[in-house]
Amino acid sequence: MSPTEAFTVNGTDARWIRPGEQSTQLGPHGAYLTRTTIELSEVPPRVVIRATALGMYELQVNGTPLADAGLYRPGWTDTTRRVQYQEYDVTGLLRPGTNVIGAELAPGWHGGRIGTDRGNFQRLTPPELLLVAVAETSDAGPTLLAATGEGWEWAASDVTESDLYDGEIADRRQRLAGWTDPGASDLGRWEQMERSAGTTARLVPQAGPVVRETATFGVTDVRWLDDGTAVADTGRNENGFLRVVVDAPAGTRITVSYGELTDVDGHVYTENLRSAKCRDVFRCAGGGPEELAPRFSFRSFRYAQISGLPGPDALVSAERAVIGTELERTGWFESSDPLLNEIYAAILTSTRANFVEVPTDCPQRDERLGWMGDALLFTPLAAYTYDVSGLMSKWFDDVLDARTGRGLFTDIAPRPPGRVMFRDREGAPAWADAGVVLPWLIYQRYGDREVLERMYPAMMTWLRAVHADNPDGIWRHGRGRDYGDWVPAGPDTSHDLFGTCWLYHSTRTAADVAHVLGSGDVGWLRERAGVVRDAFADRFLDAGSGRIAAPEPVGSPAAARRFAPSVAEETQTGYILPLVFGLVDGEVAVRCGQRLAELVGKAGGRLETGFIGSAYLLDALAGSGQTALAGELLRRSEFPSLGYMISRGATSIWERWDGLQPGGGPACPTMNSFNHYALGSMFRWAIDGVCGLRPDPGTPAFGAFTFAPAVLAGLDWASFRFASPRGEIRVRWDRDGQDAVAGEVTVPEGTTCTLAATVPSGDQVLSLAGHDGQPLGPGTHRVRWQG
Ligand code: BGC
Repeated sequence: MSPTEAFTVNGTDARWIRPGEQSTQLGPHGAYLTRTTIELSEVPPRVVIRATALGMYELQVNGTPLADAGLYRPGWTDTTRRVQYQEYDVTGLLRPGTNVIGAELAPGWHGGRIGTDRGNFQRLTPPELLLVAVAETSDAGPTLLAATGEGWEWAASDVTESDLYDGEIADRRQRLAGWTDPGASDLGRWEQMERSAGTTARLVPQAGPVVRETATFGVTDVRWLDDGTAVADTGRNENGFLRVVVDAPAGTRITVSYGELTDVDGHVYTENLRSAKCRDVFRCAGGGPEELAPRFSFRSFRYAQISGLPGPDALVSAERAVIGTELERTGWFESSDPLLNEIYAAILTSTRANFVEVPTDCPQRDERLGWMGDALLFTPLAAYTYDVSGLMSKWFDDVLDARTGRGLFTDIAPRPPGRVMFRDREGAPAWADAGVVLPWLIYQRYGDREVLERMYPAMMTWLRAVHADNPDGIWRHGRGRDYGDWVPAGPDTSHDLFGTCWLYHSTRTAADVAHVLGSGDVGWLRERAGVVRDAFADRFLDAGSGRIAAPEPVGSPAAARRFAPSVAEETQTGYILPLVFGLVDGEVAVRCGQRLAELVGKAGGRLETGFIGSAYLLDALAGSGQTALAGELLRRSEFPSLGYMISRGATSIWERWDGLQPGGGPACPTMNSFNHYALGSMFRWAIDGVCGLRPDPGTPAFGAFTFAPAVLAGLDWASFRFASPRGEIRVRWDRDGQDAVAGEVTVPEGTTCTLAATVPSGDQVLSLAGHDGQPLGPGTHRVRWQG
């Protein structure tokens, strides 16, 4: 069915509708209710409703909410380009006689605040609805039962302000009980809905998994402060909201405010939320216990503060709702090191909190955007733990829709409307390259060739443009906002060097895609990759000494400079990217790896990398013979490290290495999220490096993999269990005395496993024993490496 057919039945088109302009009942950010009735002499064998909104909507039929399509429908897209619609089978809810279809609508991603244009709602007009109810009965074809256009009425909801960033304001005394009950009377004043402009955007069926309340648990850790506020500690920094039951007189004003930390005085710490108010305000209906929770707003938080209660007895109970896109869990990492296990738990939390509709940077402050660089770094790890294939496939359409007028990839998808940051400008190296690299990753992990076909033309447009602007192979021009190795823990890496590494990686990756698709562009892409490689070697590499340096280092533009004020000729990231992208190999790579290890040593055994360098640091070290150092950095608990975050009480990954400064409190609040997955990306090496599950890039969806563990000093065992598309894979190793390690691997049907001939173990190298090295077939196999 074509999208327009979905809303056209027997020649009648459903029309977009909304409350009239002259309405006085509805504030600019309020939610409203709309309803219509249908008369049935008998219930047809099957009735479906198709619906969508510019804004967020929730449907009810005859008093029953339609929950199957998940929360916050129609989901998040750039509504100037593409709007999803949902279909509901409502047959079982109908009855002969009068039936009521109702929808509640709020501004959501379409109309509310999204982006970083402080304080601005994107649209001040009320949300709009498009809906048809269709009986799919006889051979005569579908029959229209109801459609938006004529005959819909509306009334204000009790939610008088609703926003994703700011939260909601609701007056429960205004709540219309039973507004979709067929027998309801005395529903107060309702006005006619009017036809509205709607959108010329494509209407597409819901794609990918939906957002749901994925967990709910009671909160008992409540502290009362002297000023009468209650502060609930929910234990983890998850996304969602608090659902409280209160018993307070009608009109009591209760505010629930949210924070990731508490302040010295015990109240929630909100400075790092920037302009996002992250609070819900309720006027109680009174007359007994009542439940208070936002309907169209969420945020990540660990602490929730309830103020305005007349006394402790008024708080009957509190419960934590965790929301997120419903993703199937597919991976389980475990080891003998409790610190690694805790880091992994924090990574899971940040994955759940930030994979909401699209992969986002953070889930709390006035941002929460589909930053492509963050997704680029983290998705390889996320895909080892959750099935992200459906979510990513839908997001690739957002990436396509977000492109510039010239068809170039940008930094953020969906592209938020806005004034400054979101102009029609090409994306930065790495951020925009996600449009090339991530479809390839999803193809490798899930075997989804369709995403390659869909994304390939855009990849080529992007790469042709960047190469045309930079014919000599050094990426100097067209670097957008040019973030570089964002928020480094040391000096910035030259942006010419950084960009050139990405140009090589993207071009090589696109050549692999072209090869799989049988495209004639392979030759051009390989030739261009060769030009970039030669230019890199010429300008930045001294092969004899293995030194990589930028002779005239180019630093950050204004956007990034405040986080990276100085730029150095030689940096850790300057080695990491060439090593992992294959710009150096063989003996030269070994020398580069040694120099990288020296730089880490010179920095006091610390990483000095930002978002990008950190994601690949451990691969670069281990891949060039520095596995022991990679292990030390992974297991480190002093600043800066993932372990340091845990040592400071983190239950999710921070945006900055110094989120809580060593020996002090929160860093500068203008950019300090405590639930930002990007820096967690380096933990991927715990799975493919330490546990040793290495998928073969030539055989998508785990048709072949290598078991090549790294036995880290101080670690007794590590294991990873993974529901691969071909069935369960398990890898595990146990230390067996000083000089040996026992391994176990489970290989599913249709997959083969190659065993590493040698594995690093501390300073030693252990060799495969009692095995001819032939690939293993399905089954569970015990293996051994010894000194
Ligand atoms: C976001 C990042 C993003 C960056 C761009 C920040 O404000 O939170 O995660 O990648 O901007 O450099």
